[in-house]
Amino acid sequence: MTQMPIERLIQHALDTRGELIIQLQAENTDTCRLFHGSNEGFPGLTIDRYGDQVLVQTFYEPLSETNRSIIETSLVRYLGFKPGFNFRDRSGKKKDTPEFIPPPGSEAPNSPLFCMELGVHYLVRQNRQGLDPYLFLDMRSARRFILKNSRHLSVLNLFAYTCSLGLCAALGGADEVWNIDFADSALKVGQANLERNGAAASSHRFIHADFFPAVRQLAALPIKGRGKRKKQIKLDPRMFDLVILDPPRWATSIYGAVDLVRDYQSVFKPALLVTKPGGRLICTNHVPSVNCGDWLEMLKRCAMKTGVEIDILEIIAPEADFPSPDGQHPLKIAVIGRNT
Ligand SMILES: C[S@@+](CC[C@H](N)C(=O)[O-])C[C@H]1O[C@@H](n2cnc3c(N)ncnc32)[C@H](O)[C@@H]1O
Repeated sequence: MTQMPIERLIQHALDTRGELIIQLQAENTDTCRLFHGSNEGFPGLTIDRYGDQVLVQTFYEPLSETNRSIIETSLVRYLGFKPGFNFRDRSGKKKDTPEFIPPPGSEAPNSPLFCMELGVHYLVRQNRQGLDPYLFLDMRSARRFILKNSRHLSVLNLFAYTCSLGLCAALGGADEVWNIDFADSALKVGQANLERNGAAASSHRFIHADFFPAVRQLAALPIKGRGKRKKQIKLDPRMFDLVILDPPRWATSIYGAVDLVRDYQSVFKPALLVTKPGGRLICTNHVPSVNCGDWLEMLKRCAMKTGVEIDILEIIAPEADFPSPDGQHPLKIAVIGRNT
């Protein structure tokens, strides 16, 4: 099959987003995916807007000079101003020398830039690796849900990264939010975002700790792995009204492995145990090869073995800037109600 010229593919992708973009603008959002790879006719190409920045990434093939220049021209015409451009080659077929062209007026290296989603400001930073937006755009639907459903709740945000989900809980009126991640630099971005958005710092905790010992202590489970004799943060057992579990596909530490394909149970079980009866657990799995139905069945079996009764309350799909013709989104987001 011959591929349509890239200019037409981009125009089609922008036209398809017409309604969504109008809605997002009305919701104070200047950040979204503008082109989504093979689902829009160009495998491996993604184009994301973060405020005044455009991040262009290629995952399979390096971008030709001609295509790059067509992308720049199309985007300038579409936006009506000249954004900053960041081109990243992630194909592994040529040395990735990220190229950052800052938006006019913000040329100083490392100058903080912000983008906005649903009225919330998020830090975007340029560094040696290029542009680091610190925000996963396909999770907007989850952030939208959390903004609406956190009033007066205690919230635990696991694998918090830059705490965007915790920040939405705080801005949605949560009484307290705990963010846990072992990357201190990511938590610092979360702290900066909290300040920038004027959320009450007193109700927020940023806990620099490994997921396994932290959540297992909260769940009153024994700590396992080579790290169990190591000095670590002490946390008393307790539960939360809303728990958010958004783990990476694969990560290891001296306490255990996060493995979303072969062992989701190791992260799900302790997260479920720290969810209050009557509370909710939002959990995700973004591995494309994991089928949503199979994953939900596994969650139900794991809950049953743990002696906890659950209901799958809702599946939240990514929004229309992440089109999926077969409806099988790689990112699966489940809202689980804990009954007992
Ligand atoms: C996919 S990101 C999470 C995205 C985040 N929930 C968000 O909405 O932006 C994965 C995060 O998990 C953290 N991580 C991975 N393994 C961990 C572990 N064992 N303990 C704590 N954090 C871990 C990484 O530092 C990274 O910030």
